[in-house]
Amino acid sequence: MLLALTLACAPPAGDSADPVHDLPSHNECLEEGERFSPEVCVAVVDEDNRQPTVSENKSGDEPLDDDPRAADPELAWVTSEVQRCACACCHTRSWGGPGVYFYDLEWAPVWTDSASSWTLGVFAGFTDEERQTLPTSDLARLQAWAEAERERRWALDD
Ligand code: HEC
Repeated sequence: MLLALTLACAPPAGDSADPVHDLPSHNECLEEGERFSPEVCVAVVDEDNRQPTVSENKSGDEPLDDDPRAADPELAWVTSEVQRCACACCHTRSWGGPGVYFYDLEWAPVWTDSASSWTLGVFAGFTDEERQTLPTSDLARLQAWAEAERERRWALDD
């Protein structure tokens, strides 16, 4: 009996290597080219415990079938910057992220169309909203990309 109790209380083997054990904080990022695993992201979403939301096209424009922006190297860079951060966990639809209403990294063909122009500005740090600004290695580059996308949208109204 005593033995059984001791066993029951022992941590499961390999617990310290559990990738879900130490969850990243809200603004944590990995090195360039790395990503948090789906297991970690699902755990981040669970821990946050807010309801999943639904993404929609907020760009004010219908994307073309073969939208040239999908091949834009600056967009690829922005995407890789967000994908190495914990931000991606809550802003990816298939992980049930509560933030996808504001932007959804799985929105196709160009995920940034799921963000309003306001949200793009917050994301790129124009509003000094520190928690919701992408912790990028190159803020000027991010801001130049965001400005260009917002100008493209505004030009559609002319
Ligand atoms: C734990 C889940 C979670 C993480 C991690 C997360 N977000 Fe969000 N995000 C949300 C939710 C939920 C909302 C909508 C409610 C709110 O504003 O808090 C949101 C909203 C936003 C908005 C919209 C702001 C607006 O006013 O339009 C931006 C931009 C944003 N997040 C950027 C980020 C960035 C950048 C990161 C990483 C540094 C990040 N988020 C990490 C859940 C998350």
